Amino acid sequence: MAKPLTFFFFFFLFSSLVAAKQPRISPTSLGLPKEKLSHLHFYFHDVVSGPNPSAIVVAEAQTTKKSPTLFGAVVVSDDALTVGPDPNSKMVGKAQGMYAFASQNEIGLLMAMNLEFSEGKYNGSTLSLFGRNPVRNTVREIPIVGGSGVFRFAHGYAELKTEWFNITSGDAVVEYNVYVFHY
Ligand SMILES: *[C@@H]1O[C@H](CO)[C@@H](O)[C@H](O)[C@H]1NC(C)=O
Ligand SMILES: *[C@@H]1O[C@H](CO)[C@@H](O)[C@H](O)[C@H]1NC(C)=O
Repeated sequence: MAKPLTFFFFFFLFSSLVAAKQPRISPTSLGLPKEKLSHLHFYFHDVVSGPNPSAIVVAEAQTTKKSPTLFGAVVVSDDALTVGPDPNSKMVGKAQGMYAFASQNEIGLLMAMNLEFSEGKYNGSTLSLFGRNPVRNTVREIPIVGGSGVFRFAHGYAELKTEWFNITSGDAVVEYNVYVFHY
């Protein structure tokens, strides 16, 4: 009869012992002394046409081609990030992930991407971007929901402005201004 009670007694005793043994952690104890705010500026090259596209349609609905907003299409990208709007300017990273045409009323993307940086102190670090991108708006704001490497604990936002768009090919160059808190 007393068995369940005995079990709970030992369970709680054990849990409190485990809790008591955890050392106090802080950003400093993880080697992350001070939170800072950084501003990153670069250009995103979405190449959907030609022999070497960096963004490819991987899925669509039967109705997607008839939809003026391409509703239902899903694109996977490995797009270059460069210092300038010229695609031949210095590459600083890649935008790897996907975007889905998620609106029936306008061209509205759901973006889920990792920005992987390859230069200087940011080399090997990533930022995770997740949010809504109504591409026809002059400025779009997309949350930065996390990061790795120098961007541990990252939170912030990216401001996107279309620098160039070829309506025939669908290729685009987008200016990114990223403001991010991180340690
Ligand atoms: C970035 O890191 C990789 C892997 O550690 C290294 O091979 C590469 O040379 C680095 N690039 C720069 C520009 O520091
Ligand atoms: C736009 O794309 C079309 C089709 O790929 C191409 O023929 C044209 O040269 C492009 N325009 C510019 C300004 O690059």
